[in-house]
Amino acid sequence: MQERSINQQVTVSFNYPVLFTQDAFSIDNHHLANLVSTDGRKSARMLVVIDENVFTHHPHMITQLKCYALAHKIDLVKKPLVVTGGEKIKTQDPVLEHIYQVVADEKIDRHSYILVIGGGAVVDAVGYAAATAHRGIRLIRMPSTVLAQNDAGIGVKNGVNYLGRKNYLGCFTPPYAVINDHNLLSTLSARDKRAGMAEAVKVALIKSPDFFNELYTNRHALAAFEDDAVQSMIYRCAELHLDHIANSGDPFEMGSARPLDFGHWSAHKLEALSEYRIRHGEAVAIGIALDALYSCRQGMISEQQNNQIWQLLLDLGFELTCPELQTLDVTASLEEFREHLGGVLCITLLTHIGAAIEVNQIDSQCMQACADFLSASQAQKIQTP
Ligand SMILES: NC(=O)c1ccc[n+]([C@@H]2O[C@H](COP(=O)([O-])OP(=O)(O)OC[C@H]3O[C@@H](n4cnc5c(N)ncnc54)[C@H](O)[C@@H]3O)[C@@H](O)[C@H]2O)c1
Ligand SMILES: [Zn+2]
Repeated sequence: MQERSINQQVTVSFNYPVLFTQDAFSIDNHHLANLVSTDGRKSARMLVVIDENVFTHHPHMITQLKCYALAHKIDLVKKPLVVTGGEKIKTQDPVLEHIYQVVADEKIDRHSYILVIGGGAVVDAVGYAAATAHRGIRLIRMPSTVLAQNDAGIGVKNGVNYLGRKNYLGCFTPPYAVINDHNLLSTLSARDKRAGMAEAVKVALIKSPDFFNELYTNRHALAAFEDDAVQSMIYRCAELHLDHIANSGDPFEMGSARPLDFGHWSAHKLEALSEYRIRHGEAVAIGIALDALYSCRQGMISEQQNNQIWQLLLDLGFELTCPELQTLDVTASLEEFREHLGGVLCITLLTHIGAAIEVNQIDSQCMQACADFLSASQAQKIQTP
């Protein structure tokens, strides 16, 4: 046998627009219509999937959508599917089977579209179904929470929870397009208006002192959910995430470093420990406070910088403690995170406000002491250390 090898190299580039608008389904808003192409058919075929809480708060959406579709040669293949909202859809919902069945029954092919309107959880789960049915149907995301518009809905990851593990089943599949409709956000609960802001604080802390200053200056306007401050926060946060995905050299996370997961190793664990009572963004706020405090105790940032970070989170309205911190086993959780990364442990810490570093080792005793410090502050609002 003659030993031989072929060095196969495939380069694929992805290109998708992320649009910021309002009233996306008013007839004279052409964004959606301009995105879809008929591909030689008389109309573009589209399956619409809507988060149940978006549907409840925007009862006229389906009628509006039908009028929009009629006016713009879009063929809605079926009455829009209304699906479970929140983390439940990723954890214990038969949504995947449901969508696969509809795709088969309605003959939705790789040139058709799935339009998903919902929070990060719905977008993640429907995105996974769309990416896997026929190995990928064109997905247009219309994220409907702050967190989904500035992070979850604009990137390349899709997934569901499985075997008790967060995002255990998933894939890296960029969307066909994203439309961020600001009007959708008006019906969010105060909790969900706030939760997504944690991702903005996160990306500012690791990448942009200017953005951190903007958030700090606007913190009371953001807490009051004033339009200008919120729109600017979402745009800048999305821009920094997209820039990282495009230019970090590792869009599909082949290496172990995950700077965008700053504060997330504990956040994922706290979400699971709370059986998803704590929102992702709320857990991320606690995770940021924890890793900032650890960075401070390791002498990497000053106490004053740590105080400013905590102050921003507190003024945005986050609680920096939760009962689950009492049962957080730092060593075991770090090991679980390492397994999830699939290589060496890689944790993002801060060296400055707006600058981060990856470390491969954590002093578990010190980290446990930081977690215990947060946990001991069982008051609703804790004082900055
Ligand atoms: N794929 C990624 O890159 C990525 C990144 C970050 C987070 N995530 C995932 O995103 C999820 C969290 O997303 P989230 O914070 O949007 O929470 P969520 O999807 O759980 O939504 C929160 C609640 O708001 C409701 N809702 C959604 N839109 C609404 C609207 N316009 N008006 C009223 N209610 C509305 C939902 O039904 C739900 O009850 C987590 O599962 C997290 O793991 C994914
Ligand atoms: Zn996150």
